[in-house]
Amino acid sequence: MDLLLKIWRQKNSTEKGGVQNYRIKNIEPDMSFLEMLDVLNQQLINEGDDPIAFDHDCREGICGSCSLVINGAPHGPDKGTTTCQLHMRKFKSGDTIYIEPFRSSSFPVIKDLVVDRSAFDRIQQAGGYVSINTSGNTVDANATPIPKPDADEAFKSAACIGCGACVAACKNSSAMLFVGAKVSQYAHLPQGKVERKERVINMVEQMDKEGFGSCTNTGACEAHCPKDISLDNIMRLNQEYLKSKIL
Ligand code: SF4
Ligand code: FES
Repeated sequence: MDLLLKIWRQKNSTEKGGVQNYRIKNIEPDMSFLEMLDVLNQQLINEGDDPIAFDHDCREGICGSCSLVINGAPHGPDKGTTTCQLHMRKFKSGDTIYIEPFRSSSFPVIKDLVVDRSAFDRIQQAGGYVSINTSGNTVDANATPIPKPDADEAFKSAACIGCGACVAACKNSSAMLFVGAKVSQYAHLPQGKVERKERVINMVEQMDKEGFGSCTNTGACEAHCPKDISLDNIMRLNQEYLKSKIL
């Protein structure tokens, strides 16, 4: 496959960025999207140019590092698929592909296609955990029975990989799908009950502090989430928040 790539280049967070054109030849349809970028970067290095910075780690759809907007869609055209799991057979020879970073003022560009998503880490640190006594008295996990429907619901929410595509897809840069998934995951489990009230209040406060916008129910987050996290998680976030404030 021969392709024209239009890629966002930006030296750092303060300099203005812009789209640059790159032609690439002989790409195998079975290559992943990131392997295609590896080929381009090798080409740039061989020509003495600066390679394109992009985020990746597991390349298996589990770490949430990869974060490209491909032809206007966070994680590209395949539903329920991360950028690293997208394959070039989705495109055809002669195509022009636009590649940009996730856009949100809460995710500032570090370089080229890499954005700073530490805002998500700070939200997680504000309450996305359970306090367990690990001083030798840890209770065996199987000693706390959990009804199967609750375990299944918790697991569905826990599938969130914290990639930030929900924010990039949302016209308000809302992080409510991400926060909703983290809050829901614990709300379904007995282990999450202890810090239930403080968790949701602290996480929502931190989310607002980071500058993320509000949800206006357009559903773009759910549509672009690579893990199919459902809007139900936002409903549950609102319920948990209200209950914590009034009860
Ligand atoms: S809710 Fe989906 S899109 Fe948002 S961070 Fe989690 S996995 Fe990524
Ligand atoms: S590189 Fe880990 S999810 Fe894509």
